[in-house]
Amino acid sequence: MPESLPPDASSVIVRPAHAVRGIVRILGDKSISHRYAMLAAIANGTSRFHNFSAARDCASTLNCIAKLGREWRRADDGAIEIDGEGSHLRAPTEPLDCENSGSTMRMLSGILAGQPFTSELIGDDSLSRRPMARIIKPLSEMGASISASDGGRPPLKIQGGTLKAIHYKPEVASAQVKSCVLFAGLFADGETVIDEPIRTRDHGEIALRAFGAEVERKGNASRIVGGQRLRAIEAHVPGDLSSAAFFLCAAALFPGSQITLPGILMNPTRARLLDILVQMGLKVSVAHLEEHQGELVGTIEARGAEWKGTVLAGADTASLIDEIPVLAAIAPYSDGGLEVRDAKELRVKESDRIAAVAANLRKMGAEVEERPDGMRIPGGQRLHGAQLDSFGDHRIAMAFAVAALRAEGDTTIIGADAAGVSYPAFFEELRNITE
Ligand code: S3P
Repeated sequence: MPESLPPDASSVIVRPAHAVRGIVRILGDKSISHRYAMLAAIANGTSRFHNFSAARDCASTLNCIAKLGREWRRADDGAIEIDGEGSHLRAPTEPLDCENSGSTMRMLSGILAGQPFTSELIGDDSLSRRPMARIIKPLSEMGASISASDGGRPPLKIQGGTLKAIHYKPEVASAQVKSCVLFAGLFADGETVIDEPIRTRDHGEIALRAFGAEVERKGNASRIVGGQRLRAIEAHVPGDLSSAAFFLCAAALFPGSQITLPGILMNPTRARLLDILVQMGLKVSVAHLEEHQGELVGTIEARGAEWKGTVLAGADTASLIDEIPVLAAIAPYSDGGLEVRDAKELRVKESDRIAAVAANLRKMGAEVEERPDGMRIPGGQRLHGAQLDSFGDHRIAMAFAVAALRAEGDTTIIGADAAGVSYPAFFEELRNITE
């Protein structure tokens, strides 16, 4: 069972367990919360969001929109209310600090490119190493003037203004880039098209429609006509499936486990995870399917069984990109192991997630083959507890808390507070269901 280890408040000890059982109410989806907050800021009227994500990343977005002249507050019923005043934001008087949040920096840049002022976006050490050329290129083609550090890294200075529509084919499949370009497309003259190499999550398109914009989607191309006005909405943010993944993987470790996760996002561009978990042996059923503002939501029931290996490649790698760290962390316990291909994007996330997973697994005594764009982790291995590093990365901290449940002996995770970037209550909720 995990518990805090004083005096280093950011370390957590995870003890071996024999099952996980119970109900977990997963916090609101991070991807959707970011997009709702940004679109609410440029809509007309006050928007209300129930179950808005408690992630530190989403607080970074709210802090940025406050510096852009938009008021927000938490209402008595817990909803986040944002006062939109139309598409023109106020020029910020200080840099916009995106902290650890690549989503904030990349997607907000699309909106800032359409504003008649200069804004500066900064981030923490991790974000300052992440590639931004992928948004600088399309936004510059649209007419924004953007400067960055060497190699297209933050901080970014964006001089926005009138934009022209583009037809853009990104090299990297990235939903953040797609949303950035579609948001900028709202400020462009004409129809902007983004045609992706692989279909990525479509929360940007769905959220834009919820706020009243017309967005057309054909194959992998999404189109938006500039000049559309957004109107405020009231919405319930579905539970985050990528956060639920840690609990589903914890259940997968023990044949006697049974967990229920109500109100989870079931958007087909994210739910490939469930197919893969089923293929790997988890028993999954989904009930109470509903739709909220165009997003599908359901209750997941999962039971542990025999845990099998698989190969992730191509479109599967792209759609499971946030869940690969936890799938890899528990792969040694599977029958057959895990091979991950086409995943070089993992090297430029909050940490180099291929290197971080390999380093921690090796400390636990596992054999791992690290490759430039993936890894191969043999199955049928026994791991021992160890002192591990989160590498300042929320998904690495949580992935190894799950792996530690089936190790022999205790595991200490240094820098476990990184989990708060997407899931502040993670360790408490894991402890509540661990036996
Ligand atoms: C996200 C898209 C993914 C994902 C990130 C959130 C989003 O990043 O890794 O955690 O909300 O659009 P990329 O779009 O860069 O692949």
